[in-house]
Amino acid sequence: MELQPQNAAEKVILERHSVRAFTAQDVSEECVRDILTKAARAPSGTNTQPWKVYVVKGKIKQKITDQVVASVEAIFHGELAKVQFKPAYLYYSEQWFDPYLRRRRENGWGLYNILGITKDNKLAIHKQQLRNYEFFNAPVGLFFTTHKALEAGAKMAIAMLMQNIMLLAKAQGLDTCPQASWNDYHELIMPILGADDNEILICGMSLGFADKTEKVNQYVTTREPLDEFVRFLE
Ligand SMILES: Cc1cc2nc3c(=O)[nH]c(=O)nc-3n(C[C@H](O)[C@H](O)[C@H](O)COP(=O)(O)O)c2cc1C
Repeated sequence: MELQPQNAAEKVILERHSVRAFTAQDVSEECVRDILTKAARAPSGTNTQPWKVYVVKGKIKQKITDQVVASVEAIFHGELAKVQFKPAYLYYSEQWFDPYLRRRRENGWGLYNILGITKDNKLAIHKQQLRNYEFFNAPVGLFFTTHKALEAGAKMAIAMLMQNIMLLAKAQGLDTCPQASWNDYHELIMPILGADDNEILICGMSLGFADKTEKVNQYVTTREPLDEFVRFLE
């Protein structure tokens, strides 16, 4: 069932999708500053605002891509061990189980299906995964960090900041892809960002204009029906 927006807030919420192919069109620093200033109105426990945001473009963005892609390629070709690259915190649990495993698979295969990539085509899957580390061609990359000593509340606050960014971007005709896939490579990324030793990488994001001609952007995810995840109690 397609949901119909009734107002401007509903419109951006319903129109936001993760976009995985961007055009080369630039996004100005003024525009990114505007989005981030407003996004920082996100709530955080006792207004601690436990976020730091690195905005990367141009040469720095390319340096991050070059270093991470080189490592991901080396892992794929068996020249480097994947275990060398561990995230600063676990985004996913180590053991997958249903219904999360089923939903994860549906999402992955839905995406690969649209791209015509079959399960046994390991090279094509690898190449599509590599697109993450090229920011899907987006002109702007964002990295979100917090202080190492902070607990789960900091991650919740960053999630709210990220959602504000994604909705504000959408309202300006821009699109985004939140990306936990960068987390494994934080040891390569954090020094390039010039981050302090007390910071940890929480997530990355690509920001730019969607390439509407790319098939990958036609993929629209489903959601479980309301009664699957809500209980009304009196
Ligand atoms: C915190 C977070 C991290 C994510 N990391 C990635 C990622 O690394 N690569 C990717 O292609 N999509 C990533 N996604 C996008 C999800 O796959 C996507 O949100 C989900 O399938 C629902 O689709 P939608 O965003 O289009 O509604 C991430 C989403 C979130 C919220």
